[in-house]
Amino acid sequence: MKKIYVGMLGCGTVGTGVAKILIRRKALIESRLGASLILKRIADIDIQRDRNIFFDEGVLTTDAQKVVDDPLIDIVVEMIGGVGVAKDLILKAIRNGKQIVTANKALLAVHGPELFKASEANHADLAFEASVGGCMPIIKSLRESLIANQIMEMTGILNGTCNFILSKITADNSTFHEALAIAQAKGFAETDPALDVGGFDTAHKLAILSALAYGTEINYNDIYIEGITLITPLDIVFAREFGYKIKLLAISKNRGDTADVRVHPAMIPFDNLLSEINGSLNAIKVVGDAVGDIILYGHGAGMMPTASAVISDIVDLARNLLTGATGRIPALSFQTNAIKKIPVLPIDKIRTHYYFRFAAIDQPGVLSKIAGVLGDHNISIKSVHQKGRKSEGAVPVVMLTHIAQEASVKKALAEISALEIVSGKPVLIRIEDKNGEDDNQVRKPV
Ligand code: HSE
Repeated sequence: MKKIYVGMLGCGTVGTGVAKILIRRKALIESRLGASLILKRIADIDIQRDRNIFFDEGVLTTDAQKVVDDPLIDIVVEMIGGVGVAKDLILKAIRNGKQIVTANKALLAVHGPELFKASEANHADLAFEASVGGCMPIIKSLRESLIANQIMEMTGILNGTCNFILSKITADNSTFHEALAIAQAKGFAETDPALDVGGFDTAHKLAILSALAYGTEINYNDIYIEGITLITPLDIVFAREFGYKIKLLAISKNRGDTADVRVHPAMIPFDNLLSEINGSLNAIKVVGDAVGDIILYGHGAGMMPTASAVISDIVDLARNLLTGATGRIPALSFQTNAIKKIPVLPIDKIRTHYYFRFAAIDQPGVLSKIAGVLGDHNISIKSVHQKGRKSEGAVPVVMLTHIAQEASVKKALAEISALEIVSGKPVLIRIEDKNGEDDNQVRKPV
């Protein structure tokens, strides 16, 4: 049987899962591929740790160059992460004629165009299914299965850590830090959890998906990013009373000349399927002009689910090698000369529904003052709730709005903050609710 040699850069949680599947599911993979995948060399800074796998003598090394320079290795799998050494090693491997698999979302979000160009110039395939959504086959879906479609919209829960934290606070009133500590212990938080809770990890993934969906070079730095650190249990309780759950959403809407691409906590109604995605699970809804809505749902992180996606890439590239079909599918699915530069819509220009919470003095005329400022800025109130009553101090006043423009909302909130009747900074949470009046909807029939 023909042999295809695989080298791995990094053998942490996911790398260990990849090695386990390659070794323990050897026969299954051979029966599908018609060739044998040989794990030739694995580079990691820690080669002493017990990974519960038997490796042949000489497979493990601390020298990454021994992987990228090994003339026998056909496919290099990068699982180091980060944008430093990982990029240099991938570029060297490409120059050395290797096919590349990477799970590195940060690297692709920031340096994707450079890496795609290098791989194309060297007739190398660069596969990255595990970079977004763990086991969910979202990259293959966008790159291959949905190519008949103009992608109109994508809405996803793409960070297991944030979803776990928000679900835990919602379920049992845990504090943010208690929930984060559990997520870290379970191993799905990033080494620096600020990447998770700050929304950056989600934005890396959304940049990749938007580039694939629209055939554009989405600049990660243009994406509006807001994390979950300011979400309080109080807002989660209010959200529930209004029929919403709070989720950290990755939102990408095709507006033709621009792309509305943003990451922020949002309230979504109970009848939105994404509101049912709890714990560390991920999900993404894709709207295509031919297919309508598609939802993928599954484990967005973790050893075996993510390793499953890496193995699917390895087998794809091995199949290409076996049939001489390398380069058959362009990295972003679009031909290089068809890749556009669609600008990202500035956040001030978005129009959506809003939830506001003010800490206001409980006295006559307060509501009319707040409502007056909102009215001055053309912001129409849908409902108002005031909870509790205090003889002194502030009470939470909560308002939901009809569709309003973000720029007007910001001006109005700045004016309201300056009122003496309001203390602290108002809370703003956007609402993604399509109940018949969301003019963000962009769907043109084929
Ligand atoms: N830290 C990420 C998460 C891991 O929590 O979803 C997968 O990218």
